[in-house]
Amino acid sequence: MADSSAVDHQYDRIQMLKAFDETKAGVKGLNDSGLFKLPEIFVRPSAELIADLKHEKAHEIEVPVIDLSGVDDGGRRKQIVEEVRSAAETWGFFQVVNHGIPQRVVDGMIDGVRGFHEQDVDQKKKYYSRDTTRIVRYASSYDLFTSRTASWRDTLSISVNSGSHLLDPQELPAICRDSTVEYSKHVENLGNILLGILSEGLGLKAEFLGNMECTKGHRLHGHYYPACPEPELAIGTTKHSDAGFLAILLQNQLVSGLQVLCEGRWIDILPVEGALVINIGDLLQLVSNGKFRSNEHRALANRDGPRISVACFFSGPIYNPAKIYGPIEELITEENPAVYKEIVISEYLMKFLATGLDNYRALDYYKV
Ligand code: OGA
Ligand code: NI
Repeated sequence: MADSSAVDHQYDRIQMLKAFDETKAGVKGLNDSGLFKLPEIFVRPSAELIADLKHEKAHEIEVPVIDLSGVDDGGRRKQIVEEVRSAAETWGFFQVVNHGIPQRVVDGMIDGVRGFHEQDVDQKKKYYSRDTTRIVRYASSYDLFTSRTASWRDTLSISVNSGSHLLDPQELPAICRDSTVEYSKHVENLGNILLGILSEGLGLKAEFLGNMECTKGHRLHGHYYPACPEPELAIGTTKHSDAGFLAILLQNQLVSGLQVLCEGRWIDILPVEGALVINIGDLLQLVSNGKFRSNEHRALANRDGPRISVACFFSGPIYNPAKIYGPIEELITEENPAVYKEIVISEYLMKFLATGLDNYRALDYYKV
């Protein structure tokens, strides 16, 4: 008996997921309908909720905020390289200020993402898709059918530059077209600056990581986390690490929610005025032979909403599926042997997607 009711329950769940997906209105649509109770597909398993209550909180700790001003001037650059190296080795996360992206451009990007999600459902419906080859698409939870719990988040995702195609602005929704074009230009430039600093942090020439094509595969995810009726039971973005080399995250200033897992403790990454959050991804952990850390992070659901964030991922040359990455030879010595095997980028990314956001980490399959 118990078995058959479990099967029925599972069946109901799939029906519920499908019905929700077919509205194409996302969790924003659910929230707009005036819910008081969180629908079951979004409720995290009780074991997970209890484990979370037991997790030690660390309110007094913060990831470093690094000032990038003077990055081109020798003495100052040395200091910045040192701060970034230390943050990348310990936290895998840091925030940067004076990063060179004008506030007008940053605000425009947030407004563009907000505008997209808050427009009429009929306008955004045409972009709703789970086809990952689409250049511009919008969906609620990219792992809706594979994760244990659906996420309280809608995402507009835009492939800006895959290396083989460059985004034609006409493909973008009009409401965020100009802001996306402008922000992506600036954020790509910042990505290159950061990779230069990170290369030097590894004791290599500034061009090293750039020459490995680490800033190729530039993609933007415009997340929208609406207010949630029972945020303690839900999750905005499930615990995960990022697959690519580097991510630059812009979060709006009003609502917090981002947390990084460090030595078993969830640390809040609170919005800092004018700052962008930078984090190391799995591929940079791999090529740095484990020196830089790709730490797991998540975003909580919140009662106040909406929280808006824009993640820019540099995922490598995905247009070249046969491209191989392994620990950088210059970093390997007898005392410091390779801790990862070489990967073929397409196989690795497939493994990453197949493991789902809340399961085993793809990188662990490639340990020596
Ligand atoms: C991501 C991510 C966090 C956030 O998109 O990979 O971790 O705050 N986002 O939206
Ligand atoms: Ni992430």
